[in-house]
Amino acid sequence: MAAHETVQQEVDLNDLEPILEGFKEEKWALIPLLQQVQEKYGYIPPDTIEPIARSLRLFPSEVQGVVTFYSQFYTTPRGKNIIRVCRGTACHVRGSGSVLKIVRQNLEIEPGETTPDLNYTLETVACLGACFLAPTMMVNREYYGKLAPPRVMSVLKQYAPSKKEEEHGEG
Ligand code: FES
Repeated sequence: MAAHETVQQEVDLNDLEPILEGFKEEKWALIPLLQQVQEKYGYIPPDTIEPIARSLRLFPSEVQGVVTFYSQFYTTPRGKNIIRVCRGTACHVRGSGSVLKIVRQNLEIEPGETTPDLNYTLETVACLGACFLAPTMMVNREYYGKLAPPRVMSVLKQYAPSKKEEEHGEG
């Protein structure tokens, strides 16, 4: 497995100002403010922690603590397509291990990671609530079940960046 580098992304902090303005010095507003920041950037960029803390008159460590505590907040960029491979018992006995292996090998990322082109994020979950489809995975809001290896490959291809996007280096 190739060593994975953390995805880095340039962040325009000008986009942060209007969000901070809406919550000036309102300590109670940390969570709704963070939700808006995540809506804007897709995650909570590390560079936003300090300005958020200053604006709410908190310590940066307090803001960081909340971001780390709540699983709804992401500290690294997320991919355009979120792939969730089920690791529950029903899926496990029907071969979810192979499904996960194929996804990991094809995308060259581990669960919890995002591809450098920001096209895919891979996650594993305890049950997708569709055990009758085992082994199951989801891409964004779509379910894919009774997965055999060739089918996994074709699902991944379906969400590959288009040639045009690749040529222009856009996600
Ligand atoms: S165990 Fe996989 S969907 Fe329930």
